[in-house]
Amino acid sequence: MIYPILLCGGSGTRLWPLSRRSYPKQFTALIGNESLFQASAKRLSGPDFARPILVTGSDFRFIVTEQLQMIGIDPGVILIEPEARNTAPAVLAAALHLVQTDAEALMLVAPSDHVVPDAAAFRASVQAGVSAAKAGQLVTFGIVPTRAETGYGWLELGGACTAGVPVPLRRFVEKPDAPKAAEMLAAGNFLWNSGIFLFRAQSIIDAFAAHAPDLIDPVSRSVSEARADLGFLRLDPEAFGAAREISIDYAVMEHAQNLTVVPFDAGWSDLGGWDAVAQEMGPDVRGVSLSGQATALDCDNTLLRSDSEGVELVGIGLQNIIAVAMNDAVLVADRSRAQDVKTAVAALKSKG
Ligand code: GDD
Ligand code: MG
Repeated sequence: MIYPILLCGGSGTRLWPLSRRSYPKQFTALIGNESLFQASAKRLSGPDFARPILVTGSDFRFIVTEQLQMIGIDPGVILIEPEARNTAPAVLAAALHLVQTDAEALMLVAPSDHVVPDAAAFRASVQAGVSAAKAGQLVTFGIVPTRAETGYGWLELGGACTAGVPVPLRRFVEKPDAPKAAEMLAAGNFLWNSGIFLFRAQSIIDAFAAHAPDLIDPVSRSVSEARADLGFLRLDPEAFGAAREISIDYAVMEHAQNLTVVPFDAGWSDLGGWDAVAQEMGPDVRGVSLSGQATALDCDNTLLRSDSEGVELVGIGLQNIIAVAMNDAVLVADRSRAQDVKTAVAALKSKG
């Protein structure tokens, strides 16, 4: 059985003011009518999948249950992290929880804030990775790169790249610097890591034991001393808090030798900023994306978005602009500076 493990603990600050600490981007309807989290849960449902395991923070637990209820999906278990320690402890906790009841369990670890428009194609790619995962491989899903992105992991292929056909990985490089990313793009035998993984629960536990052994004891204790609470399973705070804060990419993937990639070419975006959202919203011929009560007159390459009921947003003669209006905040930015929203949010936070 494949258990979807949906990670929904991130804060998504690059999509402020829509994404907030109390209501991060994965729970908002950024594209279409349902939230990214709901779309992710649906994508990983059906006959191939067990009920999903959610890993999230205490603040989001009721949003998660309510949003799943709205789409008629019953969660298997909702693991509550006492504090966010990044993805390595979250994935290890899910794996240790799973092997208690299913020694052969396969886990499909997925972020809950990505856009994958073709769910059927994605499920077919997951199936393509199953036999490698059963054989003990850590399976990643790779995307053909289009730019020298430094915010992603890069996967060096050990063979020919054919969509849907698993290939051994030679190397996993997490978040390279700009020159290295440019080199890998030029080399041509690299894919981006989509951040989605498939493996046996026991394989990833073994990989942690080999490459990040210090995490095993605190995370194991947090699972064995977890407390059931109104349908949630709260990981033990003292034990979990002792786990090192690190992503699964740095903790395990960069070091593991048993890596396989399934190339995936049916569309994927991690909506890593407003620029990516503008592209996914389906811009018109002049590159204009509109959402909510927004109107553009003679604009090019511009996103105008009013997520506030009753607030009319009008742009005239704008070029390369991102404008997002909410009830209590408005963002206006040059499109080339979309990534700096993160810096602005940090500055706002320090202002209090
Ligand atoms: N439950 C939980 N707890 N979820 C978390 C935590 C945590 O402490 N931290 C992050 N997440 C969730 C985020 O919400 C997101 O859905 C996912 O885990 C990945 O975390 P990010 O922080 O978004 O990682 P990233 O984007 O920097 O890098 C990863 O994704 C890239 C593709 O989008 C890496 O896997 C890269 O290699 C990859 O290219
Ligand atoms: Mg991300």
